[in-house]
Amino acid sequence: MAFQNADPQSLRGFLDMVETRFPEEMLRVRQQVSSRFEPTSLIFELEKAGRSPVVLFEDIDGKPIPLVTNVAANRRLLAACLDVDPSDLPMAFRERAQRYLPCETVASAPWDEVVLEGDDIDLTALPIPLQFSVDAAPYITAGQITARDPETGVDTTGFHRLMLKGKDRLGVSLHSRRRMYEFHRRAEAKGDNLPAAIVLGVHPLHYMGSMTYAYPPHVRKFEIIGGLFGEPYRLARCGVADLEVPAGAEIVIEGEILAGVHEPEGPFGEFTGYASYRSTQNVFVAKRVRMRRDAMLHSVTAGMAKDHILISCVTREGEILNALKRNLPNVQAVHVPHSTCGAFMAVVSLKKIADGEPQMAAMAALSTELYTKYVIVVDDDVDIFDMNDVFWAIATRVRAEKDIFFVPGCKGAILDPSSDPENFTLTKMGVDATRPTGRDFAERLVISDEQRARARSILAEAGVAL
Ligand SMILES: Cc1cc2nc3c(=O)[nH]c(=O)nc-3n(C[C@H](O)[C@H](O)[C@H](O)COP(=O)(O)O)c2cc1C
Repeated sequence: MAFQNADPQSLRGFLDMVETRFPEEMLRVRQQVSSRFEPTSLIFELEKAGRSPVVLFEDIDGKPIPLVTNVAANRRLLAACLDVDPSDLPMAFRERAQRYLPCETVASAPWDEVVLEGDDIDLTALPIPLQFSVDAAPYITAGQITARDPETGVDTTGFHRLMLKGKDRLGVSLHSRRRMYEFHRRAEAKGDNLPAAIVLGVHPLHYMGSMTYAYPPHVRKFEIIGGLFGEPYRLARCGVADLEVPAGAEIVIEGEILAGVHEPEGPFGEFTGYASYRSTQNVFVAKRVRMRRDAMLHSVTAGMAKDHILISCVTREGEILNALKRNLPNVQAVHVPHSTCGAFMAVVSLKKIADGEPQMAAMAALSTELYTKYVIVVDDDVDIFDMNDVFWAIATRVRAEKDIFFVPGCKGAILDPSSDPENFTLTKMGVDATRPTGRDFAERLVISDEQRARARSILAEAGVAL
């Protein structure tokens, strides 16, 4: 399968960029591989070895459709999508995600080459991986679901896990309780199913833009994605309701999320690193499938794989920065570590001017959304991307009785295993790990850049390369 000169807004365009500019970051697996566990364990083995290439499995179970995964696991490749250095990624994302650009609607799209309806619909023909031994079934993990708000008509797009239940039936969980959850709730309140399209195979900038959450209700996520591309996002009308979906996609599954129907969904190996038994237990029924003649299936490697978490880290860093910068221009940077599932903890770097600012920063960050439950604020001499440095600041600058505060009874994430099993509430925590202002504090030991350079040259002469 070749990707040269593909539409730059499509997944193929991204793969073309990777093969052309970063060939060492693309791995094609030509031998036959089983969809049962093998793609997922291969990605986890690569990660253990410190490698995060995009992986294209050309033969899964002998099926004619290839599988591409690990598309969003590599900071270098994501930064290249925005044309910036990896260290500038959160800031570039934060700025570009606010330049909403109206979309362009085009007359036709390559996913119209094959149209399947009625008995011809067979989702089991796709090479959908079974990722973990706890998973109840193979899961479509890279399905961007698009639907319109039944009240305002504004559409949204986002990933939602989809459990393969039959040829035209998928279980779906809307647990992140953002727009799709609310749109479905509004349709259901009128007794209506929610018309929806599942879009498979999109560019990582679409993945990134779909994870934004703090933006005005009249803005379309497709307009945010256009801002990330720096040009209007090209959409084409599909056949359900009047929904528009990305013209460059691989596969479009049209259908509806049923009102008032709940069926068992899960367990599924989630981003928390745990089997998730919690679900909103909704059901999607497929009415039509459209696809490119040579379509490939995109799958996100689940669990705590970088493919599942890295974009969440970057988008949360950007969203929290946006919220904090409004009131505290002295906030320097935000880190949402992978090890806290790209979700539950944020570390804020602050050039503190007055007492009380760390508490303000922590409260503002905690209230950006339900997933962020612990916020640690440190001075700007601490490297927030080095958790050893962060732990050192907590160990040496926190007086627990006055620097830690709790906010009990907050809405928490359904998938957070520590949230209340009945109502999913939890206690949020802010930690001020900054030095006190207005009085002397212990002096930090430092080794100057000059001393470090001299040490390196001594080591180099002694035959030790660092
Ligand atoms: C790979 C991946 C899978 C996801 N799966 C789900 C899911 O199954 N259910 C859910 O509610 N959110 C899921 N999310 C989070 C949503 O995609 C995210 O909260 C998005 O902003 C929701 O969009 P919405 O506002 O259109 O609902 C997932 C995110 C990623 C990156």
